[in-house]
Amino acid sequence: MHLLIPAAGSGRRMGSQRNKLLLTLLSKPLLSWTLAAAEASQHISWIGIMGQPDDFPDFKAILSDLSLVKPVELIQGGATRQESVYNGLQALPPNADRVLIHDGARCLATAELFDRSAEALLTCPGLIVAVPVKDTIKVVDERRIVRDTPERSNLWAAQTPQGFEVKLLKQCHEEGRQKGWEVTDDAALFEKCGLPVQIVEGEETNLKVTTPVDLALAEFILRQRTEQSK
Ligand code: C5P
Repeated sequence: MHLLIPAAGSGRRMGSQRNKLLLTLLSKPLLSWTLAAAEASQHISWIGIMGQPDDFPDFKAILSDLSLVKPVELIQGGATRQESVYNGLQALPPNADRVLIHDGARCLATAELFDRSAEALLTCPGLIVAVPVKDTIKVVDERRIVRDTPERSNLWAAQTPQGFEVKLLKQCHEEGRQKGWEVTDDAALFEKCGLPVQIVEGEETNLKVTTPVDLALAEFILRQRTEQSK
């Protein structure tokens, strides 16, 4: 199974001048943790990382430290996550028929989660890892007046990995570009094209490191894991 890692974002919401994936988490760059889980997955055989060329020297240093057995390719990212994934899809080897896409910023995903997703992807054309929503969610208008309260039992929070048949996802991305759709995950393109997206139960700890609070939480969770494995 092929894996694409969007890693071409910035550290804006983190309040950082540099790509947040290069920030240190328990003495290793954030991206190292994501890559270590991908390396430990039984099903992933090839890894593509979409990044900004300015970050490539740092990415290469991370890869050289990790000495991964699996082949890794650095791919130029785009101005949005959607564009970065588009570029990644074009760079997949021709034999790639199914692909997992996993945000580099979700550095706590486990190898088991990758494997569960990869196995599920053999039985459906598209899937996302997600967890049931714990909060009551409000739909608000531009004046911040609440307009709706969707039934919570129907709401799931989307995470990554997300997985797709490569041919179908490429078609959805092409249609999205033609029609000017702007989306924040790949499943949204699949949905807009009328294709089914299966839910795979995610992990509550699979948070996306976005703000400094997330970084502190991620550190706490990793310390707990280290303690438990002693
Ligand atoms: O900004 P956010 O955390 O939502 O981004 C999700 C993932 O998409 C991150 O891993 C980030 O590096 C990646 N990304 C990307 N290209 C962009 C913007 C974000 O690959 N232009």
